[in-house]
Amino acid sequence: MTATLPTTRTLTGFTPTGRLHLGNLLGAIQPIVAAQRDTDTVVFLADLHALTVTHEPAEVRARTIEQAALLLAAGLDPVRALLYAQSQVSAHTELHYLLECATGVGEAQRMIQFKEKATRQRYVRLSLLTYPVLMAADILLHDAQEVPVGADQSQHVELTRDVATRFNARYGPTFVVPRAVHPRTAARVMDLAEPTAKMSKSSASDAGTLFLLDSPDTIRRKVQRAVTDSATVVAYEPATRPGVANLLEILAACTEGSPVALAEQFPSYDGLKRAVVDAVVATLRPLQARHAELAGDPGYIRRVLAGGAEQARERTAERVRRAKEAIGLLDPAPSI
Ligand code: TRP
Repeated sequence: MTATLPTTRTLTGFTPTGRLHLGNLLGAIQPIVAAQRDTDTVVFLADLHALTVTHEPAEVRARTIEQAALLLAAGLDPVRALLYAQSQVSAHTELHYLLECATGVGEAQRMIQFKEKATRQRYVRLSLLTYPVLMAADILLHDAQEVPVGADQSQHVELTRDVATRFNARYGPTFVVPRAVHPRTAARVMDLAEPTAKMSKSSASDAGTLFLLDSPDTIRRKVQRAVTDSATVVAYEPATRPGVANLLEILAACTEGSPVALAEQFPSYDGLKRAVVDAVVATLRPLQARHAELAGDPGYIRRVLAGGAEQARERTAERVRRAKEAIGLLDPAPSI
């Protein structure tokens, strides 16, 4: 008999709005790919979450396929990890409703991301308010123990913990209470044009964002225009010189070096920027090549997602059934 080590189940969602960028690769995708060997990994495209703000139907569908292709191109292995699109597994929405019955309106209204997004829009979709409850459903459905997230999503994982704990206390032990983890990432990648803000899919301009499918020329242009400062010597001083520090962090992450040691190698900003271009282009080249192959066979991506959805349905059915039973609903398929 072989002893099996207990594995941790981690879960990550990617919302298919906008294009994936270098910050996503270094901060989220690479850590998932590195951990998939000895972690029980669930990754899904949160296409339902993409509907919480104004959207183009064709764009959401195209980005869902594109993000799946990029995840696979980056090395996510659909045999080791579960990969699927959220909307293809109805358990997400089913559990979402049950959890809405265990969440207060005030709790949802306190979410910082909701408040920020809501003030920027004239017409706010109700789903934007309930989005963190859908996120809780995503997590609790899979008995995920660890949820790697950036700081902006920590509050949503806290809400998930509160809802799970409350549900368990009121209706009996049903859900695993998850925790947020912040993976030690190769770099904290900031916007090249505004180095005090995180690189983001949804910033006002594309000038400071290195998208995973940007051509080498586009990368060169964006890096050459990256904001630095008026000093003349290259040094790693994140607090006071965020632009240069960001370039050093990106270079360090792409070359497995250290920002401090790298700073000493470059007499000028110009040389540093050229090295960053080369390193980013070299990092993205194999990923882009693999993506091009996959994009040529969209049927393959759809088959991977369909297979993942099938598996996700099997894995989550029991959790939904237990939650329904606990909260007082009739057995959906009574055996008589
Ligand atoms: N809300 C996350 C984001 O915008 C995506 C997401 C949806 C997610 N459901 C999740 C992340 C569950 C972790 C767990 O980045």
